[in-house]
Amino acid sequence: MYLSKEEKTYFNSCVAELLRSEQVRRMDSFPQHADVTCLNHCLFVAYTSFWLSKRLGLSFDRRSLIRGAVLHDFFLYDWHEKSGRKGLHGFTHPRTALENAQEQFQLNKREKDIILRHMWPLTPIPPKYRESYLVSFADKLCSVLETLQLCRPAWKSQATTKGVP
Ligand SMILES: [Fe+2]
Ligand SMILES: [Fe+2]
Repeated sequence: MYLSKEEKTYFNSCVAELLRSEQVRRMDSFPQHADVTCLNHCLFVAYTSFWLSKRLGLSFDRRSLIRGAVLHDFFLYDWHEKSGRKGLHGFTHPRTALENAQEQFQLNKREKDIILRHMWPLTPIPPKYRESYLVSFADKLCSVLETLQLCRPAWKSQATTKGVP
């Protein structure tokens, strides 16, 4: 799952803008699956979504695809700990992520939909855009790969956090 040099440059330029936010970088303090942090999970999902979008032979708003994917789990807590949160994480975190993302960035309709609908079909309202379906699929794929501890080295060598200032 490798990107060309041009694709890598484009991907890193979209990600770098988001990683300038200290709040976004805080996702690296929270675990997501196995030993993968929330930030690395989001970057893996963004990378995989972008890679797939380039190989599906369809048109995509790729900037929105990458931005929505990087922010899709921007919830800033350890979801393994139950303390004090209302509702089940699986159902509530897309809205929390969207609220956090909107505090930091001006989001377009696709980016909002990607974040809010990425847990579909667990959450009942389906996505509106093909970018959202792709991120939702990539999220599930990456979650399985991370949980089984497969595939991360290949990704890390390609999509590092080069964009961090
Ligand atoms: Fe999620
Ligand atoms: Fe996720």
